[in-house]
Parts: sequence; structure tokens; C-alpha cells
Amino acid sequence: MQIAQRIRPLQANVFADMDRAKAAARAAGKTIVDLSLGSSDLPTPPHVLAAIAAALPDPTTHGYCLFSGTQAFRQAAARWYTDKFGVAVDAETEVLLLIGSQEGTAHLPLAILNPGDFALLMDPGYPSHAGGVYLANGQIYPMPLHAEAGFLPRFADIPLAVLEQSRLMVLSYPHNPTTATASLEFWQEAVAFCQRHNLVLAHDFPYADLTFTGKPAVSALQADPGKTCTVEFFTMSKSYNMGGFRVGYAIGNAQIIAALRQVKAIVDFNQYPGIQRGAIAALTGSQDNVQTVIDTFRQRRDAAVVALDAIGWTVPTPEATMYLWAQLPEPWGQQSTEFCLRLVEQTGVALAPGIGFGKSGEGYVRIALVHPPEAISRAIAQIAGFLG
Ligand SMILES: Cc1ncc(COP(=O)(O)O)c(C=O)c1O
Repeated sequence: MQIAQRIRPLQANVFADMDRAKAAARAAGKTIVDLSLGSSDLPTPPHVLAAIAAALPDPTTHGYCLFSGTQAFRQAAARWYTDKFGVAVDAETEVLLLIGSQEGTAHLPLAILNPGDFALLMDPGYPSHAGGVYLANGQIYPMPLHAEAGFLPRFADIPLAVLEQSRLMVLSYPHNPTTATASLEFWQEAVAFCQRHNLVLAHDFPYADLTFTGKPAVSALQADPGKTCTVEFFTMSKSYNMGGFRVGYAIGNAQIIAALRQVKAIVDFNQYPGIQRGAIAALTGSQDNVQTVIDTFRQRRDAAVVALDAIGWTVPTPEATMYLWAQLPEPWGQQSTEFCLRLVEQTGVALAPGIGFGKSGEGYVRIALVHPPEAISRAIAQIAGFLG
């Protein structure tokens, strides 16, 4: 038996190594404090759960759901988007239901790339972006992100020979894992660049609400209101704590949406209608819970930054996301995997090695603020013991 070549790049996965290390530490009697996954510990709002529960006994939710069955969700998503960002959206042609933004961003390259085409990806970046390019037999050009440049890519550094073979650029701000944010001016530059080079601009936007500045992050479509080349991916996972329910949506250029819809029509029958009803309740109901999420992560961020500072590990205070992006202290400089494996083995505290997000992530760890402040402070005290 032979397994397809395209699976090969997916096999080297430091997060799988971390998973094994966590299991081994647990088996050895350690209590695991898992700050390695961006999976929120906060509950789904009650009115969302109530909408899903009310749908369960309704037999009209029990069958396959075709595109026409997603109309109510698409309309709610379009309205939510227009209210928040001031860009008009046609729910019929410019919105697509997803089974999470991971699913959508992983399938997008199949809709855009021919085999051998380049996709321009952020390095470090979210693993589904690269994984989708591998599945589509595309090539990856990593755009390195550095602290000195605010973790924004320098488009001028992309070689012309690569650009000529490129079809897709994927960006994501507020950024996982670096926590960087991007201004409207940056997005205008990105849109102009993609227009000039005939690229699809995909913006993975899960942290749209998770900012600590008092206003939502900038949408790429605010820089491309005519939707000439842009598609944006939203998720219900972060703003509404619905990660386990697997629901998100893409909004943008109708031709891109139609192509992605064709790929998905082969792969899935859309998310369960009851979960769609829960998502509609989230998008159209009270947004108080979103503010609670923001306040909770702000409080955790502040507690973690202070506690790390107290042990001599200074990290920047992020303006967005649910993470800290911490440069490793010496002697761990360029050994993020080794650091995380040893740390979980000796203390039970799990962090995400920066190298897992790409070569330029080496030298950093990502700390997900997915436990209450006291637990995070205790974990940081254990890290202090580990660092000696
Ligand atoms: C950049 C980015 N994209 C996608 C996802 C996954 O989102 P979803 O739950 O919608 O698949 C995450 C989750 O952490 C993320 O950080």
C-alpha cells in the first residue's frame, strides 16, 4: 500500500509531539495545566445553547442540509458583518457557511491553486493555511514576520519569479500566534498589492472581536469594499465560545465564494441546522457575552504579563487575541520544542513551541490564556522553578 505524497509534509507536527508529552506527563502523575491550545474554557452563551436544544426535537433539522437550507444563517452573518464593519454584503452570493474557519481556510487552496502554484503565507502562521496548500499540491512561499516590523510581512521582499507563479496570499490579523494587529493602511497596501499581482487575498479573521482597544479589529473588506479580490473567514469559536460546535463563515468576492462552495459541495452537507440556529441566535441576540469574553481575556493578559515580569521574563502586552507571544530566555534561545517538551515533563505546564507555527516562530513560545488568572499565575510560578 502507498500513501499519497501530499500527506508527507503533514506528518512532521510538533503539536503531536506535545500531545504525546502531555499524555506521558499525565501518566507520570503530573497535573497538566494546558496553555498550549487556543481552545476557550469559557461557556457558550445560554441563549445559544437554548436555540440548539430547541432545534433538536424538530425533525426538519434531522436531514441533509443543502445550500438553500443555510439561507437564514447567511442572512444573519451578512447583517452582523455590515453592522460591524459598514460594508454591504449579498447573503446569496457573497457568504458561505463553514464548518469552522479551519475547514474553510484548509479547503480554499483547492478552489484557487493549480498544482505547483504558490501561496504566500505568514511565517509563523496558523497550521491549516499551510496544510491546505499541501493538500492542493501547491507550493508555499513563507513571508517571514519579525518583531521589528510589527510582525507584518514586507511585500517588497517577495521575489518576482515567485509572484508570477502565485495565486493566493493568506493573512490573519489580529494574529495567532504573534498577537500583532494591522491597520487599515496596511490592509489598503495588501489589497493594492494583490490587485496588482492578480492574487486572491484571504483574511483569516477569528479574533475580530478579541481586541483590548475598545473597537473591533480592521476587516480586510474595509480596504476592498468592492470585493475585487478579497475573502474573509470568520468563526463562532472565539467571540461566542462555540469552538466545539464547528461553525464559521466566509464573506467576500462572489467568484471566490462560488469556487469554495463547489469544493465544499463535494466534501460536506453543511453544519447541522440546529447548530446554525444557535449561531444565528449568537449573531442576532445580545452581544453582552462578547464583552464578557473580551474583559476576561484582558484580565488574564494583564495577570500573566505581570506574573511573567515578576519572574524576570518580560513579554509585550498584546492589544488583541487570547495569547502571549513570549521570546524564550537564554539558554533556550532557539529550542522552543525542547523547552516545551521538558517544561511539560517536569512541571505539567504545556505551552506551544513557536517553531510549530513556522520557521520564523523559532525562539518563541505561545501562551494561551485559557485558564483563570490564578491558574495562569500558578503555572508561571512553576515555569520560574523550571527556569531556575
Ligand atoms: C488563525 C486561526 N484560524 C482558524 C482557527 C480555527 O477556528 P475554527 O474553530 O473556526 O476552525 C483558529 C483557532 O485558534 C485560529 O487561530
